[in-house]
Amino acid sequence: MEDLSLHILDVVENSIAAQAKKVEIRVHEDVERDLLSIEIKDDGKGMTEEMVKKTLDPFFTTRTTRRVGLGLPLFAQAARESKGTFAIESKPDHGTQVHATFQYSNIDRKPWGKMTETLITLIVGNPDVDFYYCHQKGNFEYILDTEEIRSGLEGLPINHPTVVEAIQGNVKENLGMIGIS
Ligand SMILES: Nc1ncnc2c1ncn2[C@@H]1O[C@H](COP(=O)(O)OP(=O)(O)OP(=O)(O)O)[C@@H](O)[C@H]1O
Ligand SMILES: [Mg+2]
Repeated sequence: MEDLSLHILDVVENSIAAQAKKVEIRVHEDVERDLLSIEIKDDGKGMTEEMVKKTLDPFFTTRTTRRVGLGLPLFAQAARESKGTFAIESKPDHGTQVHATFQYSNIDRKPWGKMTETLITLIVGNPDVDFYYCHQKGNFEYILDTEEIRSGLEGLPINHPTVVEAIQGNVKENLGMIGIS
């Protein structure tokens, strides 16, 4: 996986597989402290301590279609390779939180890739899940809150083409201000 946006997509897909109804994605680009932080939190079915330990082992997966679960080990590796950190906290029946940090300027720190596409893919494919996305960089802050958007739609589904187009335009315009597509 080449891009942070694809790692985020993968981690959020784990949340959805765990029946999450709300997923919060918090991104902080702290250029002054040379630190990039990505936090993904869900209210899905969670994991026991033993399961959490196993998630970092690439030979553990509860998927039946493939034997090897690589999403989390690869994300952890991406963080480590750029002098960052990686942590998972989880509680059965409560949810899971994944936190990765990266040295911002590190030559091995992966680029963002297509963050708009990741968000739109998640919203279109999971219209019943609420996504809260917060992206901070210096004085810049962008928040996309599908719960708030939904409340203004008067019953129109959030994955209606007109709505999706509007959301996509909004994300593109805002993240474009900090050079992310
Ligand atoms: N947010 C989560 N909530 C509950 N369980 C999780 C969560 N994230 C991961 N898991 C558990 O950890 C396992 C490993 O996750 P990981 O993303 O590394 O691999 P995978 O999703 O099984 O396969 P891949 O990501 O390679 O398609 C999952 O199969 C699941 O059992
Ligand atoms: Mg996965």
